[in-house]
Order: sequence, then structure tokens, then C-alpha cells
Amino acid sequence: MSKRTAILISGGGSNMVTLVQSMVGDHPARPCLVLANDPGAGGLDKAAALGVPTAVVDHRPFGRDRAGFEGELSRVLAAHAPDIICLAGFMRVLTPDFVTRWQGRMLNIHPSLLPKYPGLHTHARALGAGDAEAGCSVHEVTAELDGGPILGQARVPVLPGDTPDSLSARVLMQEHRLYPMVLRRFADGDRSRIDI
Ligand code: GRF
Repeated sequence: MSKRTAILISGGGSNMVTLVQSMVGDHPARPCLVLANDPGAGGLDKAAALGVPTAVVDHRPFGRDRAGFEGELSRVLAAHAPDIICLAGFMRVLTPDFVTRWQGRMLNIHPSLLPKYPGLHTHARALGAGDAEAGCSVHEVTAELDGGPILGQARVPVLPGDTPDSLSARVLMQEHRLYPMVLRRFADGDRSRIDI
């Protein structure tokens, strides 16, 4: 039976689109839900156009009530019974309670060569440090922010004159290669690391 895969987004959802488009043919997984925490997330229309069910759990009415937000998130997710949850540009920090509930099933893509630069502004930080290369990582989600086991990384050179935007665009192209590769392996039960 194919693995049911839910994808969580906050924005444009370009990674989500590449994941959905990859889950065809003999792929061991199929998309079951695209869920956004922002009703304005551009990825919602793209998911609907791809024929994937969508849902929104808006974080704003919950204010500081993180447990309330995550309770609703878990309720909606559970209703779609995902075997795998892919965070793809999902910009909410998740609490240990939520992560523990779904641990072992949840992946994230992060735009840096972890363990370097967890958190935000990764490209500006890589440029500020004078790094010769940058990249992205797909990792299992654990209670430590951007800290779970790394399942794959892709590298790009930093070029003279790079700005955070130009570097981000180069890294994003690699995100679109790496995440589908890692998802396919993960859905097959392969958690060994790949470097591309
Ligand atoms: C990606 O760079 C992802 O790594 C980061 O947010 C961006 C999301 O882009 N966390 P998209 O929504 O997949 O286009």
C-alpha cells in the first residue's frame, strides 16, 4: 500500500509542487493532504490544481496558544491518516509535544548545510561568514529545531557578487531535486543519507 503523505506549507509551495509531482507511477507514496497555516498561502491553489485535498489551520486566532493551534493541526492531520508528513516551507516552530506525536514520520527541508545555520536568514548568514559553499538539508524532525538526523544534503557554490536572493534561488533549485529524492527513499524505508 502506498504511503499517505501530508505536506505542510506556509507560502508559495514550490517544494510542495515538486513533491506532489514526484509521487506518481511506482513511487511508494501518494499525497493525501496539503495543509497551510495561512489562508493566503499561494501553494493552496497550486495543490488544488494538482488534485490534492487542501486544508487551512490558521495560527493567528490562536495567538500565543501554541498547544491549541497544534491540537487543531494534529486533529486535521489525523483525519487524513498520514504515514509521512513533509514540512515544506512551513514557518511555524513546532513544540516537542507535537513533534513527539508525529516523530519518525516527519521530514523537513532547511535551506542550509545543517548543522550550520539552523533557524532563519540562512543565506545572509552563509554570505556573512564568507562560506565558499551553501546548500540545503532534508532531515527528520525532532524536538530540537532543525536538529534531527540528516537524510540528505545538496551543495551549491557561493559565487562572487551573490546576494541572499541570488543564493536562495540557486539553493531552491537544489531543494527541488533533493526533497523528492529523500522522500522516495524514506517512503521505501531507507533512512540512509544521500549527498548530491
Ligand atoms: C524554502 O527555501 C524552504 O527551504 C524554506 O522556505 C522556502 C519555501 O519555499 N524553509 P516554497 O514555499 O517551497 O517555495
